[in-house]
Amino acid sequence: MSLNFEDWKKEFLLDADRMGLTDRSDDNLRNIYNEYLSDDGGFPSSDDDDSMEVESGEDKSDGDVGDLSIWYSENMEELVGNLFENPKKIEIMKNGEKKERGHVLDDNEKKSITAIIGTGLSPDKLYKLLNSINGSANSGFKNPVAFGISIMHRYASTQERKKIIEAVRQYIQNHQGGFFFSKKKTRKKRQKKTRKKKKKKKQTREKKKQTRKKKDIKFTDTSYPYRNISNQEAINDFLALKKIVQGTINPRSISGNKTVDWGTEKARRKTKYRNKSFIEMWDNKERRKKMLEFAKRLKKKQPKRSIVSSIRSAIDLQWGTVNTMRAAAAAQMYKKYGATRVLDFTAGWGARMIAAMALDIDYIGIDTNKALIPGYNKIIKLLKPYTKSKVKMIWKEAQKVDYSKLGKYDYVFTSPPYEYLEAYENMTNYENKGSKIKQPSSSQKIKIDDSAKFYDEFLVPTLKKAYKHLPKNKFICLNMPDIMYDKIKKRWKGVTKKETYEIIKRTGGPVGKDRRGKELIFCWKKR
Ligand SMILES: C[S@@+](CC[C@H](N)C(=O)[O-])C[C@H]1O[C@@H](n2cnc3c(N)ncnc32)[C@H](O)[C@@H]1O
Repeated sequence: MSLNFEDWKKEFLLDADRMGLTDRSDDNLRNIYNEYLSDDGGFPSSDDDDSMEVESGEDKSDGDVGDLSIWYSENMEELVGNLFENPKKIEIMKNGEKKERGHVLDDNEKKSITAIIGTGLSPDKLYKLLNSINGSANSGFKNPVAFGISIMHRYASTQERKKIIEAVRQYIQNHQGGFFFSKKKTRKKRQKKTRKKKKKKKQTREKKKQTRKKKDIKFTDTSYPYRNISNQEAINDFLALKKIVQGTINPRSISGNKTVDWGTEKARRKTKYRNKSFIEMWDNKERRKKMLEFAKRLKKKQPKRSIVSSIRSAIDLQWGTVNTMRAAAAAQMYKKYGATRVLDFTAGWGARMIAAMALDIDYIGIDTNKALIPGYNKIIKLLKPYTKSKVKMIWKEAQKVDYSKLGKYDYVFTSPPYEYLEAYENMTNYENKGSKIKQPSSSQKIKIDDSAKFYDEFLVPTLKKAYKHLPKNKFICLNMPDIMYDKIKKRWKGVTKKETYEIIKRTGGPVGKDRRGKELIFCWKKR
């Protein structure tokens, strides 16, 4: 039973000092009360099908609790994004009212939230906690983190609440020397002592805010519209993934994508599709103009959409997409096959490494594209404090690696190039060494007798070598189109089993009623 407003207010004001609430007008209190009422009602119920993604594949969630966890995980990213948002953001309240955020989280509060995310609280409880912190900040609380924690008893155990307090306390102690929960110092004393410090911090915060502020681009901008992701956003995305992979994983979750893009999007845009990379297409004024006209139409249809997102969509729709596997899908496979040290011999954009890091398992990546080295190093350095994984990268042709020297690996998982459909930087043209790769105009043009040397000199020898050093009963799994499997089978052997990998859209992906958006993962078991 919910309290009525007057009773709630009485109880609430007892805590207002500690929370640092300055605006105690009835109007503001009513807003907070509304947040309070919607706190639980705002979450999905188990029959709220529309808001849930029901996963396919064998790792089905076990009933409502699993499904709800997926909902919370899926919506976490947006919520965390909101918490770390541009300060001037206008929130649309549940009753349709527009409201400017009352309190903007400072750097320390954001970092405390990062510490909270790293505690391993279940997705539903974490979502509720972050949601109440968000609501409290919107309502003008000066100390929304403490407020959020103070109402945790509604859905979490004392033990869980203590764990959160401890995580925040530890963060504060390491970085601030007491702030949120110190009982010894009074607020006045603290204020006096830290006034100077605060002033300085405020100035740097203001500066940071200015740089953090995400401005939309203009249709007339001439630089390529890369995703503009901050270090903190990349970390948060990874932490959200880390949380997701602890439970039943929804392989369609996009958590981890931001971290991938933060590290390697620039290199990915140099991949050629139909003989041209996105960067080359962008630099061609005529093509850019045509694409921008389309982007403008998209923006007109969805005015709320930012210009940058309309342009990125127009690029994908007109020029094709260079795919990247979702880290959550990779993590699901790692878990399913009990991997502790993964070998990925065509590592690509980094999603499979990030998935291993999220699960704290070890990873060996091999790739010929040396242009990816800075991006990988950046990701590894960024995530190092948040993972126990040991990562080893080898930048050469997979068929030339000595697999006996890699140390034990117990799962091989990768997504090899779809022959020459996408031409990566530094990739060999096996069909005609030393000359430019000839790309097919579409996946439909790839036939069973094409690209024999790609298989004979690269893919099949690599598979055989990786297989040779794999322990018995362990698996090699490849995500690839059916025709590639047919060609491998002809040269090597048939698989032990096939898994379904759900993809949103992939150049050259399977067509057909039951297979749209689905591709297979082919798995060989070591005998
Ligand atoms: C990017 S992945 C394929 C991505 C896939 N389309 C997906 O959905 O994730 C393929 C990677 O294989 C790498 N590669 C190509 N030939 C290779 C070789 N002989 N040895 C190792 N890596 C290679 C490329 O540089 C590229 O990064």
